[in-house]
Amino acid sequence: MCGIVGYVGSGDAVSVLVEGLARLEYRGYDSAGVAVQNGGGVETRKLAGRIAGLRELLARRPIHGHCGIGHTRWATHGAPTERNAHPHIDCAGTLALVHNGIIENADVLRKRLEQDGHRFGTETDTETLVHLIEESPGATLEERVIAALNHVEGTYGVAVVAEADPGKIVVARRGSPVLLGVGDGEYLVASDASAVLGHTRSVVYLNDGDVAVVTAEGYRVLDRDAREQERAVDDIEWDLDAIALGGYPHFMLKEICEQAETVRSTLRGRLLVAEGTARLNGLNLTAEQCAAIRRIVIVACGTSWHAGLVGRHVLEELVGIPVSVEYASEYRYRRQLQLPGTVTIAISQSGETADTLEALRAARAAGSTVLGLVNVVGSTIAREADGGIYLHAGPEIGVASTKAFTSQVVALLLLGLYLGRQRGLDAEQGRRLVSQLVRLPELVERALAVEPQVRALAERYADARNALYLGRGANFPVALEGALKLKEISYIHAEGYPAAEMKHGPIALIDENMPVVCLAPKDPVYTKVVSNMQEVKARGGRIIAITSEGNGDLSKLADHQVAVPASPPLIAPVLTVIPLQLLAYHIAVLRGCDVDRPRNLAKSVTVE
Ligand code: F6R
Repeated sequence: MCGIVGYVGSGDAVSVLVEGLARLEYRGYDSAGVAVQNGGGVETRKLAGRIAGLRELLARRPIHGHCGIGHTRWATHGAPTERNAHPHIDCAGTLALVHNGIIENADVLRKRLEQDGHRFGTETDTETLVHLIEESPGATLEERVIAALNHVEGTYGVAVVAEADPGKIVVARRGSPVLLGVGDGEYLVASDASAVLGHTRSVVYLNDGDVAVVTAEGYRVLDRDAREQERAVDDIEWDLDAIALGGYPHFMLKEICEQAETVRSTLRGRLLVAEGTARLNGLNLTAEQCAAIRRIVIVACGTSWHAGLVGRHVLEELVGIPVSVEYASEYRYRRQLQLPGTVTIAISQSGETADTLEALRAARAAGSTVLGLVNVVGSTIAREADGGIYLHAGPEIGVASTKAFTSQVVALLLLGLYLGRQRGLDAEQGRRLVSQLVRLPELVERALAVEPQVRALAERYADARNALYLGRGANFPVALEGALKLKEISYIHAEGYPAAEMKHGPIALIDENMPVVCLAPKDPVYTKVVSNMQEVKARGGRIIAITSEGNGDLSKLADHQVAVPASPPLIAPVLTVIPLQLLAYHIAVLRGCDVDRPRNLAKSVTVE
């Protein structure tokens, strides 16, 4: 959600900034800009629109220098216009700043600053910060930034350059990620590792509350009292290929198609065949701690929340302890009861989702052990959790989450296996599950073979105005996920429902124009789902059944059948979701939608 990049070194800052912004564009794409500090002060170029437009603007009106900052925006305060685009500058035009996050006391600050004579040119909360720095005391830019931040309530990742401090970028973070890229005679700052990868794989992840001073000679990390701090240099595990399209027309399709490999990667090194259990060293739970767990709470948002709902089935079945699954945004503002033996699991692809992070903090404050199921290595949730499981699914660039979902479910299966074996699941059951998981990447590969059939279905239903997705048991969350995928990238209104719940209201919507996607793999509730399909059929709905191979013929009931490989019920969601991802993708493409950058959305929601 919004991308920040900064560069200082001997190279041309603008080309590095624009290259970085292009890699960050999936995080926000309604406006963009850069500011470069050079002999003539601080110069900015910005516009409403995408990075391609910024490139053209810079070709027409170039700026040069060796130190600068850039931003790609997802609007929160103020419409996505050129004026509201970052970087923002102070009254004197000598300071430029880019910001991710929300300044919650912006209105109060703005009133006071205006009374003091500051002139505001935008509707953004961010501009208050640049005027605050302008009037803050201090001999250096970092002193002024620290002084200004003392007045700020809310969240920020910021990067600032100033005419008075040539060749220097000051960055700070609270609740919004910022990292430093450590190159050879050049340093970068960014909100996301993908922006620095063209230059270096060595990064320093800043902690909340850190302020860093970056010049061509090096960097210093300070706390809010300007005391110097030590921060480790980490290596980014992936390379530029992982964030390239690699011949696919869209990242979303690439990420759907690589799921056999990403599922394999989540499993790699974690299955102990002979023992019938999983190796999850990162959990940091002793056998005594595992035995003491009395309940599990899962907190997450969006697709990750759907994975959590599958996780409830997995964990209750394999571990035999109660699991509740909470919207992180709701959980964080409720009173947390101090129940001993609670383990809270935050599930997040990005590891930066603001609500999920705050829910994790609220759970910890209530005495819970907190674990993270996270994809992005070094992300805030990963670092703040007591332990966890990395998904190792590689960078997910498509705004609609796909491969993260399947890896999240696989990580939850591993967790269920591990905790289950600690708490009474017998070795034989464990070994059976291990052998099923070993085969899973191959089943995913086979499930992906339904693509031509799903593409044909997409042609048939691309003009639909509504769609209903029905499922039961572990496939009810898959229905929710299928509906979310369709609505967010094709803008067709879609609802996911527990199949039996449909007759308590939504059945009124069904007529011959309503496609109803029914999840009907072979599992203990299959016959129940078939009854629900009959109810749809009786009202003229068009049924697309997602079933499993060898599951009998549904052609008397369903208008279309798509069969994925048969699998045990707890594993089925990893397979049944694949046709739904493909259906949403192909419908969106046929409708001419911008699949990787759906309207109003952005990857990684770092505001609440
Ligand atoms: C939907 C989607 C979102 C995310 C949600 C949580 O396709 O991508 O619903 O799942 O914003 O994001 P993470 O998993 O990064 O916490």
